[in-house]
Amino acid sequence: MIITIDGPAGAGKSSVSRALAEKLGFTYLDSGAMYRALALYLLEKGVDIKDEKQVEKYLEDVQIDLDNDSVFLNSRNVSHLIRTPEIDQASSAVSRISAVRNRLTELQREMEQRGDMVAEGRDMGTVVFPEADFKFFLTASPEERARRREAQLAGQKKNIINHEIILQQIKNRDKADSSRAVSPLKAASDAFIIDSTNLTFEEVIEKILNIIKEKRKKSGKDQTE
Ligand code: DC
Repeated sequence: MIITIDGPAGAGKSSVSRALAEKLGFTYLDSGAMYRALALYLLEKGVDIKDEKQVEKYLEDVQIDLDNDSVFLNSRNVSHLIRTPEIDQASSAVSRISAVRNRLTELQREMEQRGDMVAEGRDMGTVVFPEADFKFFLTASPEERARRREAQLAGQKKNIINHEIILQQIKNRDKADSSRAVSPLKAASDAFIIDSTNLTFEEVIEKILNIIKEKRKKSGKDQTE
């Protein structure tokens, strides 16, 4: 079974997807981590990420693999290197290149061999797994997402940047992710949209599990009718 969870940055997709995968005993596919690892690879190689031709050349030599919470770049665990502001920007930039999306889509689809999966990202339900059994689009207001980001930075004892700056960064990234020409961020037409602005983490999980349960019950009933 494939469950996809798409949505903008900071909507709580990662923690929800990870917890859901754990609860159901499914593999967790963090597609954002793959874009991040690829961005790291290109930066380390000194590639100009605005130069599509050059980026394309480097795609052939890159292997990115996921093992639940860890991401491997050509067999090197780079999980601790990909959550920086520099990689936030670079991954967003490389994700606009269609050759990059094609290569990563290919690698993501290969993960289907591992069995049941919760796939998280921006285009999991629209492009990578259009036949997914359940599709969710998790969102929250930009203000709430900025507030969560601030709390996260405070928890990591990192310098608290001004609220307005964080909010602006979130809005800029939303705009970049939803206006790009290839696979823009959008909800699949058959996705359940969940607005988590006023929901706790537990409430979001409960809502998702209820939707899955209800839909399965309904389709079971439909078959017997
Ligand atoms: O979810 P994230 O913040 O780790 O994603 C990093 C970047 O990768 C983000 O700017 C959007 C891009 N991305 C994408 O274009 N498609 C995906 N399926 C996942 C991430």
